[in-house]
Amino acid sequence: MIVANWKMNGSKEEVDSWLRFVSSNLSPNIDNLCIFCPPSCYLDYSSSLIKEISSPVQLGSQNINFSGNSALTGGISSQMLKDLSAEHVLIGHSEQRQYFNEDNDSLKSKITDALTKDISPIFCIGEPQEIKTDNRTKDYLCRQLEILESFDSNLITIAYEPIWAIGSGENADNSYIEEVHSHIKEFCCRELNFKEKVSVVYGGSVKLENCEEILSSSEVDGLLIGGASLDPDTFSKIYNLS
Ligand code: 13P
Repeated sequence: MIVANWKMNGSKEEVDSWLRFVSSNLSPNIDNLCIFCPPSCYLDYSSSLIKEISSPVQLGSQNINFSGNSALTGGISSQMLKDLSAEHVLIGHSEQRQYFNEDNDSLKSKITDALTKDISPIFCIGEPQEIKTDNRTKDYLCRQLEILESFDSNLITIAYEPIWAIGSGENADNSYIEEVHSHIKEFCCRELNFKEKVSVVYGGSVKLENCEEILSSSEVDGLLIGGASLDPDTFSKIYNLS
């Protein structure tokens, strides 16, 4: 799975040219999904264009709000995402956790809600720099993972995004990524009773120059890409190398 997370970037024109370029330059592989997460206001346009040009790209939302709270100005429910043909949704991205004070309870409600409409959650976890420095990364991630206990491992993808690596230009090095991904998988099997090994993708300063090395580990099941996904040529190349 290779995911483009545009965050709050782009315009309708850029969405149009990106989707057209990527769709005609990908060497699609059904075992390796290519997912586009544009800003919410472009989901409708993206969804129509994906259908119109029979694009192999699948649509993901950058957020979802818990449908139980209907009085939420600006909110987006799972039904709304379903109507827009979004098949995936990012949940728990560190930027959402930080700016919207998302806690474990609200994240669990979001996952439950997405799954009721067959939208696949990509659950983001990751530690800040001070936790890494204190050597407390593994415990910190376990606390974030605990909310997945009652869910089916086949339906959820985990994105490991160390906060210090996001947008910094400094990706985590391979041995660190490998150790953390392996810890996440083991924890999910041992403590959460996941029947299948969960997929874990990496995010944080992924670029064309480092993508092959990161993906060379058998513990890495894909990439979640911010800045480098904005350029359709770079993104297509990363996908084709994966
Ligand atoms: P960058 O690839 O820009 O570091 O962003 C990572 C990210 O947050 C993707 O969700």
